[in-house]
Amino acid sequence: MKILVIGGTNFIGPEVVRRLHAMGHEVTVFHRGKTLAELPLGVKEIKGDRAQIIEGKTQFEQLSPDVVLDMILYTEQDALTTMKAFKGIAQRIVAISSMDVYRAYNVLLGKESDIIPIPLTEDSPLRQQFYPFKDMPQRALNAPADYDKILVERVVMGDADLPATIIRLPMVYGAKDPLHRLFPYLKRMDENRPAILLPEKFAQWRGCYGYVENVALAIALTVTNPQATKRIYHVADLQVSEAERLNQIGKAAGWQGKVISIPQHYLPADWNLPFNTEQHWFADTTRIRQELGYSEVVSPEEALKQTIDWERSNPPQEMPQWTGLELLDYATEDEILTRLS
Ligand SMILES: NC(=O)c1ccc[n+]([C@@H]2O[C@H](COP(=O)([O-])OP(=O)(O)OC[C@H]3O[C@@H](n4cnc5c(N)ncnc54)[C@H](OP(=O)(O)O)[C@@H]3O)[C@@H](O)[C@H]2O)c1
Repeated sequence: MKILVIGGTNFIGPEVVRRLHAMGHEVTVFHRGKTLAELPLGVKEIKGDRAQIIEGKTQFEQLSPDVVLDMILYTEQDALTTMKAFKGIAQRIVAISSMDVYRAYNVLLGKESDIIPIPLTEDSPLRQQFYPFKDMPQRALNAPADYDKILVERVVMGDADLPATIIRLPMVYGAKDPLHRLFPYLKRMDENRPAILLPEKFAQWRGCYGYVENVALAIALTVTNPQATKRIYHVADLQVSEAERLNQIGKAAGWQGKVISIPQHYLPADWNLPFNTEQHWFADTTRIRQELGYSEVVSPEEALKQTIDWERSNPPQEMPQWTGLELLDYATEDEILTRLS
């Protein structure tokens, strides 16, 4: 199968490209050339900006891909452009979406109030408000203010001439994670903190994570299996409580400390979690397992070990802002630990 990947040279993309190539497919990557990845021999490259993708239509006609995997659809306009560019050329589009389309995400952020039943399925209700990052002063991964995967999904699934598949990703971790999701915990462990304190509501909260190589396999299956046509999937592997996740990270990191769940009255009076932990955010992944035969290729232990090795060799220059974690400072933790002992 001939596959064109838009993006594909930074974090999740290279793992998908490697997987597709290993499955025997002919893969071409389209990107600006600003980020470099070691891609397998035989993977072709086309350089260009997605903003001018329609002007480059002739080269895509010559390539004639069976499936276009668009890794970097952020806005409604991105999706309109992709559909226009590949209509009459490709047989199917696969669009990378996110679990942030679910209404549960807005409830978690405190923007909507009714708790959504979990686990989330692909048919769970979607957010009622658009542009989830619009009011954020800084946005993860330089997402534009009009970022909205719901609008992306509507465009790609609503095109009668070019069928599509959607895959909604969880919080992805692994080597080259630009958000360094594990780093704030790992830093504490590597600084030999005796304990990490989690507010009890957060300790019990369950979110959805996916290791990059597992997520890449799931994406590759949606690209290569025609049964995925006009279907929506989501994927996740690590979906335990935050305390359990932290324990697993600690074990993989060789940390000797303890994870302690703290009742609210131990916390400083003005300290509040910035999200509603009554709303869990984990997903039922039965559909992709049953329909496409997905199962994890990397165990949670190995996934954490690989990620920790990479984080230790590539610490971020500043403490990451987008990990979804809210931790107490060391002085407050020490003071609470003294009160507890
Ligand atoms: N990370 C997560 O936890 C998470 C969670 C949910 C969903 N997602 C979704 O996963 C996708 C991100 O995949 P990723 O991690 O592989 O992306 P990434 O690391 O941000 O890489 C971006 C890729 O797109 C290329 N690119 C960027 N701007 C471009 C442009 N204007 N024209 C052409 N190419 C361009 C980059 O290459 P050049 O710089 O060379 O152009 C690179 O290959 C997004 O759709 C995101 O919403 C991620």
